[in-house]
Amino acid sequence: MHLLLSQEFINEVKDRNDITDVISGYVSLKRSGRNSKGLCPFHSEKTPSFTVYGDTASFYCFGCQAGGDVIGFIRRIENLDYIEAVKFLANRAGLAVPEEGKNDGLSHMRLRIREQNREAGRFFYKSLYSPAGRQALEYFHSRGLSDETIRHFGLGWSPDGWDFLARHLQELGYKRDEILAADLGYTSRKGGIIDRFRNRVMFPIFDLQGNVVAFGGRKFTEDVVGGKYVNTSDTLIYKKTNHLFAMNLAKNCKSRELILCEGYMDVIALHQAGFSNAVAALGTAVTPQQARVLHKYADRVVLSQDGDEAGQKSIARSIPIMKEEGLDVRVLQITGAKDPDEFIRKYGPERFKSLLEGCSNDIEYSLMRIESKYDVSTDDGRLHYLREVCNYLSGLGGLEREVYAARIADKLHIEKSAVISQSEASARRRARMEKDKEFREMAKNTAGIGSRINPERSANLRASNAEYSLLSMLFLHQDMIDKTAVLLPPEDFVTEFGRKIYSEFIEIHSSGQEISVSLLSTRFSEEECAEIVRIVNCYDSVAKDDYDTLISIIKNERFTPKPQDAAKLSADELLEQMNRLKKKKN
Ligand code: CTP
Ligand code: MN
Repeated sequence: MHLLLSQEFINEVKDRNDITDVISGYVSLKRSGRNSKGLCPFHSEKTPSFTVYGDTASFYCFGCQAGGDVIGFIRRIENLDYIEAVKFLANRAGLAVPEEGKNDGLSHMRLRIREQNREAGRFFYKSLYSPAGRQALEYFHSRGLSDETIRHFGLGWSPDGWDFLARHLQELGYKRDEILAADLGYTSRKGGIIDRFRNRVMFPIFDLQGNVVAFGGRKFTEDVVGGKYVNTSDTLIYKKTNHLFAMNLAKNCKSRELILCEGYMDVIALHQAGFSNAVAALGTAVTPQQARVLHKYADRVVLSQDGDEAGQKSIARSIPIMKEEGLDVRVLQITGAKDPDEFIRKYGPERFKSLLEGCSNDIEYSLMRIESKYDVSTDDGRLHYLREVCNYLSGLGGLEREVYAARIADKLHIEKSAVISQSEASARRRARMEKDKEFREMAKNTAGIGSRINPERSANLRASNAEYSLLSMLFLHQDMIDKTAVLLPPEDFVTEFGRKIYSEFIEIHSSGQEISVSLLSTRFSEEECAEIVRIVNCYDSVAKDDYDTLISIIKNERFTPKPQDAAKLSADELLEQMNRLKKKKN
C-alpha cells in the first residue's frame, strides 16, 4: 500500500524528521551518551526503558519490545496507517505530499465514522428532548444540570430498543460495516445489528477540534442490563488513552491550570459552577499521552479525584507521570463528599474555590498519605513511619529532600541528619535494586528466553549471538556486505530469522540502496522490525577484528550437531555478552 508514495519521497520525509526531535514531542527524553531515554509511551512504567538511537534513526523499548523507525513511532502513537503517518510527518516538515490519485480506504472510513458520530450525537440529543426521553431528562435535572449545560455538553439519551440508532444511520446511507467500525453497534447472534448504547444517558466525547469521536453511556434506571457505564472502544478515530473528556472546552481557558477529575459528572458539574478548566481522564490513572496533552494547555494540574481508595491509588500513579512530563502537580483533598460533583452540590462553588486555593503540592500530599498509615504516637509506629517516609524522600531531588527532612525531623523530634542519612541509604538500596532489575532483563534478552521472533535462538545462543553481532556490524559498515556474501552464504546461517535478515541485507545492498530501519520496516513485520532495531543497536560494539571470528563461529555452529541451550552458555560467555551490552549503554 505504501508503494503509492515513492521511496524517494519517503526517504525525504524521514530525512527531514529527526527521530529524536519528533519523539521528544511526545516523550520527555534525557540524553544518555549518543542516545536518549525516556518513559515508554506504549506501556506504563516508572523507570525509563524506552531508547531513541539517533545513529540508526530508530527507537526500542526494553520493557515492551516496541521498536521501529520514525514512521513506525508516529503510526503507533497517533494511531495512523503507514501512508497517513508519512503524510503526518510530511506536513510536520512542510513537505507537499504528491498526488496519489484516489482516496485510500482508511481515510475514507475515518470520515464516515466521524460523520456517524455527529449524527449519533444529534440523534441522542433529540431523543432526550422527545416525549420518550422524559425520564432521562428528569435524571439529568435531578442531578442538578440545567438545560443550558445539557446543550453545552451535547448530552443525550439513547432510546430504549434494539436498533433505533442503527436504523437511523442506515436510512442516512451508512452501511453495516461502517456502523460496526464506529462501534455504534455490534452484530447480534442472528447476524443483525444491535445498538451499542440502549436506554442510557449519553455523554459525547469530543476531540480537540470539536468533532464527536466517542460516547459514554450511563445507566440511569435499574431495568437496564450491563455495567454502570458503556463506552466506545478504540476505533480508527478514537484512542481512549489519548483523550481527555472536555479538553475541547477547557483548552480555551487562559489560566494554564487544569483540574483533572475522574468522571463525566464531575467535569460537567464543575463547568456549570464556573470552573471551565475541568477535564477527566475517564479511566483511572493518567497516561503519558494524556499528560502531554495537558501540558500543551497548562503548566499546573490539580488532581481532583474521588476520595475513595481507588481515587487515591490513581493519584499515586498519576503523580510521577505528570512530573515526568514537567507539570506542576497539586492534589485537592475532597472531604465531606465522595467526589467533586457531590461536593459542589452540597457546599457550593465558593467552598470548592477555597479547596482549590488550599490544595497541597504532590510531596505534601504523599507525606500526608504515608503519615495517615501509622500511629506516630507509639515508638513502633514512628519507626515504621520513618522507614517508609525516608524511602519516599530518597526518590526526591537533593533540595526537596533537605526541606522535607527538616519538617519530618521536627515532627518526630529527632535530628535532621538522621532523616537525611536514612534517606540516602534508601536511595542506595533503590539504585542497587534498579541495577539488578536491569541486569536480569538483559540476562533474559541475552539468553533469548521467550523469543517469539526467533524461536531457535535459545537453543543456538552462541550462533545467534554471532549472527546478531555480524548483522549489526554489516548494518554499520555496509561496504563489507559484498565480501561477506562470498565468505558466508545465507544458507550457512543457523537461525532462520538471522538468515532472513542477512538475505534481505544482501538483496537491498546489491540493488544499490542503503539499508535503513525504515526500508527494513517495509519488508518485516512490526514485531520483527523491533527486534532488528534491538540487534543493530545493541550488538554493534563488536570490534572490527571480531569479523573473522564471527564468521567462523557461525560456520562451526552450523555443522555442530548438538543443540546448545541457554543453560549451557558458560558464565564467561554470558558475562562477555553483558559487558558488551553495558558498554553500549554507557
Ligand atoms: N467508568 C467507566 N466504566 C465504569 C465505571 C466508571 O468507564 N464501569 C469511568 C467513567 O468515565 C466515569 C469515571 O470512570 O465517569 C468515574 O467513575 P465513577 O466515579 O463510578 O462515576 P461518575 O462519573 O462519578 O458517576 P456518578 O457520579 O454518576 O456515579
Ligand atoms: Mn460521581
